[in-house]
Amino acid sequence: MFTASTAAVLSPPPQIEGANFLNLLIVDDDRAIREACREVAQSLGFNTQVAESAEQAYRLLDSSSTDAVLLDLRLPGASGLEALHTIKKHRADALVIVVTGYGTVQSAVQAMKDGAYDYVTKPFSMEELRLLLERVAGHLRLKTENRVLRETIKSRQGFGNIIGRAPEMEKLYRIIAKAGQSVHPVLILGESGTGKELVAKSIHFAGIFRNKPFIPVDCGSLVPTLIESELFGHVRGAFTGATNPKDGLLAIAAGGTVFLDEIGELPVDLQAKLLRAIQEKEIRPVGSVKRVPINVRILAATNRDLERSVADGTFRRDLFFRLNVLTLRIPALRERRQDIPLLVAHFLERIGRDAGIEKTISDDALKALLNYDWPGNVRELENSLERACALSSANEIQMRDLPTQIYSAPIDLLGMSQPTNGGIVPMAELEKQSILAALAQVNGDKMLAARLLGIGKTTLYRKLKEYESQ
Ligand SMILES: Nc1ncnc2c1ncn2[C@@H]1O[C@H](COP(=O)(O)OP(=O)(O)OP(=O)(O)O)[C@@H](O)[C@H]1O
Ligand SMILES: [Mg+2]
Repeated sequence: MFTASTAAVLSPPPQIEGANFLNLLIVDDDRAIREACREVAQSLGFNTQVAESAEQAYRLLDSSSTDAVLLDLRLPGASGLEALHTIKKHRADALVIVVTGYGTVQSAVQAMKDGAYDYVTKPFSMEELRLLLERVAGHLRLKTENRVLRETIKSRQGFGNIIGRAPEMEKLYRIIAKAGQSVHPVLILGESGTGKELVAKSIHFAGIFRNKPFIPVDCGSLVPTLIESELFGHVRGAFTGATNPKDGLLAIAAGGTVFLDEIGELPVDLQAKLLRAIQEKEIRPVGSVKRVPINVRILAATNRDLERSVADGTFRRDLFFRLNVLTLRIPALRERRQDIPLLVAHFLERIGRDAGIEKTISDDALKALLNYDWPGNVRELENSLERACALSSANEIQMRDLPTQIYSAPIDLLGMSQPTNGGIVPMAELEKQSILAALAQVNGDKMLAARLLGIGKTTLYRKLKEYESQ
């Protein structure tokens, strides 16, 4: 039978894999039992805490993260079942194993009905306790795996290859490959829609952390208190609405990557807290005094000029230096126009596959895409093509299917905004530009364009044929 000395005498059983991430709270008023259970649990790898009363247990539940509770149902001054209910209220997701005295199986049955995970009757052997804790660890592992899987699936949506063969992109691929093998933070810079998140995912999924979670946190869209509790976690009652304690994403990522998107928007006080977390490799959940160790790789992205933010005092210099170990700057789409046809083909292939028809694009429309400035970068290009395909059921996208700002930017349609030849533009070029601009303006209606241009319909057709063969 189980006694306080048994655990110490027997050789320790092998540790359960992953148990070092699990916190077990042992609640028993008998010191010898408490300590013996603690010894067994620790030998299996669990982190443990002990409480000798229900009150002490509630306090610990509020101030630290607890995955499972071993609860003696016979505690002085408290009904065991009441204690069970209160524990479940404090930490709904914790597994509670109740310990009942011999001959009180009835209360164990009631406890199971009331949400206990399992029960054990006193006196119990060390082997019994070990098997029980192994089951608990297995159950908790599965739960965490499911959560991580959910986060990963969520974050993988839209995950695809990075398209681009421009020299700047080739350079980028080399840095991504290097970054994937490193544990240091990476700062990803680039205008909106250039693919910062895509690059962050590539660093993770092509790197040494690929089998661990990738967890994105949008620092720009959450209110400050929420970002804080998302990143660091909180204890119950830490703020209004914190009815249940929650583990921080920095802790949940266990061995994986946290992607801090829009880091430039992080409030200054949270910047200090994040810096401390990165430096000391531990976090303090909101409202808690206890520190929780973390093991996480940080990727951060922003479309802000962080150096400017440092200069004007809205971003901490020390955090900037911490994050800036490896910096990746993704070029804007207009800086690598040669990749536009590749990207167009890539997106049309995807859209066509989804819709079950082959999609192509007319030369004019492609020219307009090549000419446009793309302030919203690849995302804007992707959205424009999606919109164009939705608007037209024809296989080939025409100029008129494109958003107005793209086809009504015809002045540079022929790449002539900086004319060479001392500013002289050949008449034929001017004529062509004028015809294409008119067509763009009237959504490709040739009759109307001819009328507006003051030329005959057949002349217009002939000119267009000439341009096609050029
Ligand atoms: N090089 C690329 N190849 C293929 N798709 C890309 C590329 N760059 C971006 N995309 C696509 O463009 C869209 C926007 O990319 P992403 O969300 O990574 O940009 P972002 O820089 O994070 O933008 P924002 O600053 O607005 O958050 C996504 O659908 C992404 O798949
Ligand atoms: Mg983004």
